[in-house]
Amino acid sequence: EQRCRILGIETSCDETAAAVVEDGHRLLSNVISSQVEIHRRFGGVVPEVASRRHVERITWIIQEALERAQVRQQDLSAVAVTQGPGLVGALLIGVAAAKALSFAQGIPLVGVHHIAGHIYASHLVKPLSFPVIALVVSGGHTELIYMSDHYRFERLGRTRDDAAGEAFDKVARVLDLPYPGGPQIEALAREGKPVIDFPRAWLEPDSLDFSFSGLKSAVINWLHNARQRSLDINRADLAASFQAAVQEVLVEKAIRAAKQKKVSHLVLAGGVSANKPLREALAKRCEREGIDLRVPPLELCTDNAAMIAAAGTYRFWEGERDGLNLNARPDLPL
Ligand code: KG4
Ligand code: ZN
Repeated sequence: EQRCRILGIETSCDETAAAVVEDGHRLLSNVISSQVEIHRRFGGVVPEVASRRHVERITWIIQEALERAQVRQQDLSAVAVTQGPGLVGALLIGVAAAKALSFAQGIPLVGVHHIAGHIYASHLVKPLSFPVIALVVSGGHTELIYMSDHYRFERLGRTRDDAAGEAFDKVARVLDLPYPGGPQIEALAREGKPVIDFPRAWLEPDSLDFSFSGLKSAVINWLHNARQRSLDINRADLAASFQAAVQEVLVEKAIRAAKQKKVSHLVLAGGVSANKPLREALAKRCEREGIDLRVPPLELCTDNAAMIAAAGTYRFWEGERDGLNLNARPDLPL
């Protein structure tokens, strides 16, 4: 029997990635070339630099993914690529590469939503059970998504301003910590206690939306005031207090969403899900509430192409195809 082997391509931000996934869940290869070192000296991702680096790496990364999977281009069932959201110049490189491969080999092309990919990262470890709610927390997104079945998404809530990861990165920046700030804040917070009561943005009583810009400003103002008055600043306490504020809102709203929708499966996804205190707090809370929680391993939490291949497989199986007019869409809706 013919196996379904799909090549995934991801270039929405600062990772150039390609992977081969078999039958929607079996990982045959997963190659990621990170640009973090390049962007670190600018304190964040520089879009033009990211695009140029993607151009330099993409063909090699795809070749490497195919070689490691021991699959020839012509034997692929389809090629799946992140169509959006993301940096337009970065997305275009992956989309162009996917189209070229699709055209050259005459294989189907499927565009994938980046958030759908993050959710399917879990599926590579254990099949998703439906209905399920996904809390997607990354540098670009903070969203609560309800899924009734494969590739059926309903957005329940989203950030109205900064993404959770973005807040981590910005707070890290004012603390003179290198990019990306999330892991740096987590490490610093380990030495401190959450003694500062920063604001939690709950928004309207039933809202499943998020807002992190107020918290970010509160941290910056606190630091500014303390510096002006030459007070002793305990950076570790500051980091721990900020982290606790983010964590509390994320956990609370995820549980609220599960209760509102009467769902007993929850998936945590995106780069911020690498945060250990967040994972632990959510796991503890889910256990208490009788909710089954799934968190992908760290290497599948951050941007990768395996998740795109997995999500793309289900779009492909639904008969969805894209033509060579597929275009990158930085604001692609889910
Ligand atoms: O999913 P991802 O790799 O890229 C996007 O799609 O944005 O997420 C990157 C984000 C960055 O903002 C980074 O600071 C954050 O995830 N992050 C963390 C941790 N590791 C990565 N945030 C908090 N704690 C961490 N351990
Ligand atoms: Zn991402």
